Amino acid sequence: MCGIVGYVGPRTALPLLMAGLRRLEYRGYDSAGVALQKNGHLDVMRAEGKLDNLAAVVATHPSDGKTGIGHTRWATHGRPTEQNAHPHVDCTSATAVIHNGIIENFQELKAPLVAAGHKFSSETDTEVVVHLLEDELKTGKSLEDAALAVLPRLDGAAALVFISTTHPGTIVAARISNAGGVIVGHGKAENFVASDMTALLEHTRDMSFLEPGDLAVVTQKDVRFRRIEDGATVERAPKKIELDPVGAAKSGYKHFMAKEIAEQPRAISDTLLGRVDRTSGRVVFDADVKMTDDFVKALPRITFVACGTALHASLVGKYLIERLAKVPCDVEIASEYRYRDPVVSKGQLTIAVTQSGETADTLAAMNASRERGARLLTFCNVMGSEATRISDDVIYLHTGPEISVASTKAYTAMLVDLFLFAVYLAQRRGTIAANVAAQLLAEAFHLPTLIDAVLREEGKIRALAYRYTTAPNFLHLGRGVNYPTALEGALKLKELSYIHAEGTAAGEMKHGTNALIDKTLPVVAIALKDSVYKKMLSNIQEVRARAGIVIALATDGDTEIEQHADEIIRVPAVHELLSPVLAVLPLQLLAYHIADKRGNDVDQPRNLAKAVTVE
Ligand code: G6P
Repeated sequence: MCGIVGYVGPRTALPLLMAGLRRLEYRGYDSAGVALQKNGHLDVMRAEGKLDNLAAVVATHPSDGKTGIGHTRWATHGRPTEQNAHPHVDCTSATAVIHNGIIENFQELKAPLVAAGHKFSSETDTEVVVHLLEDELKTGKSLEDAALAVLPRLDGAAALVFISTTHPGTIVAARISNAGGVIVGHGKAENFVASDMTALLEHTRDMSFLEPGDLAVVTQKDVRFRRIEDGATVERAPKKIELDPVGAAKSGYKHFMAKEIAEQPRAISDTLLGRVDRTSGRVVFDADVKMTDDFVKALPRITFVACGTALHASLVGKYLIERLAKVPCDVEIASEYRYRDPVVSKGQLTIAVTQSGETADTLAAMNASRERGARLLTFCNVMGSEATRISDDVIYLHTGPEISVASTKAYTAMLVDLFLFAVYLAQRRGTIAANVAAQLLAEAFHLPTLIDAVLREEGKIRALAYRYTTAPNFLHLGRGVNYPTALEGALKLKELSYIHAEGTAAGEMKHGTNALIDKTLPVVAIALKDSVYKKMLSNIQEVRARAGIVIALATDGDTEIEQHADEIIRVPAVHELLSPVLAVLPLQLLAYHIADKRGNDVDQPRNLAKAVTVE
């Protein structure tokens, strides 16, 4: 899930590449590098660690090359060192490659190259490509034809971009598999390539998307596309992208995560906008949802496939759809689903939930389900991403770019969109009374105000967070529709603070987790006034009996909870089915403030990345 950017045109490429890499750093930040064509040779600069380290290197070695490529890395093969940073060059330093993905057969390809005398200088899978290319270029082939000779020999690679001194002013980009998209940005007398459109938005809105198996030849004057399998020319007409680059800036907040948490009232308003027809009272999705009445009525089953935070949203989605639309749902970890032999029911719907729309495991699980006959629906935030392009139906989160690696506003937007979809299915299937739907939707439209009320309590939550910054472990307990909230609260805490945290269904504690409870363990208990409130109170007693510290998440006005908890965080009363949207907010803030107080890099936690485009 590395970030890729390239430029060819009349301007000095280096500042453009560095600016593009800044926007892509969320995809990986173990190391970074650039290569620029300059008077018949390549200027290659690389640095271990964050992009600032590369910025320091290029500041002392400015290059005014006008064709160049840049890369920010999330290590897969080879440690995160300068030596393993991309671009990688061939034995003569004439050709450079950057790569996002994994080349599964690199060992087989490397052995004969080493035997033939090629000198490898990194531990990466990627470097093999540039040496293969070197051999092809030696035979007099053009860069694109050399690439066409090499690419079919690679298994599993995602996106690759090449430049060579043998072909000044040319960038060749290729997309081998479903994962790891490549975009070409069409400028005026200049052109760009990137792994992600956010790197290009300040330069152009006209973008072409490579399909799997495409190769693009990009020069200052034109862009051509060919198929890797037979070299045939194909058209990939540019699309106009309407996205707001300013929305991606930090707007005065200390971290993107703080900004994204604070944005949730607005983000959820955007998600709800236009989704209910005022006259009929029915949920409406736009033209991207095309399921027929017959399909919806006959639905035998829904399977969710997702990863990470999106998986937790899917667990809430199962609860909502089963309760309102009466369709049985399974929630599958995408990386497990793809490697089983999953059974798909005739006429079933598979729902992918994915903020980025580029998560490799989710895409593979979608394809596995499609191959077995499922219809695909995607809940996604990124317009035009791969998941949206391979789906039959798409529901956008409309929550704006999410930059912080730990997901916050996309999670609540997923919950709200899944809630709307559950009501939509229920209305189309006739499993919900009109007055019940009307009451639920009215409550949903009140959410932005309620979210705002929870976020106003940030000062109190911060103070509470600071009391637990040295806790070695945390336990998050939930039940029913807020069991996934416990999982998500624990995930947020561990990924940001590096404190070990576990989320558990409170009813399962007695089967093992109780053994962990002692006076050092803070236990976040989601104990809202809902259908499982009394059960949660019993679980809280179990914690107290073992001297655990109870941090209760309670409903405004609940006085009973006071005798059972050491600390209380309040959220406003709301319908149980919407309560996960409010309950997760204090847990996001708790994790944020503990991590910030511990001095961690909140937006880019160690060893993680925003869009996981490798398996
Ligand atoms: C990464 C991110 C998580 C995200 C997960 C799934 O692990 O760090 O925040 O939940 O990928 O991403 P997706 O884009 O498919 O929702």
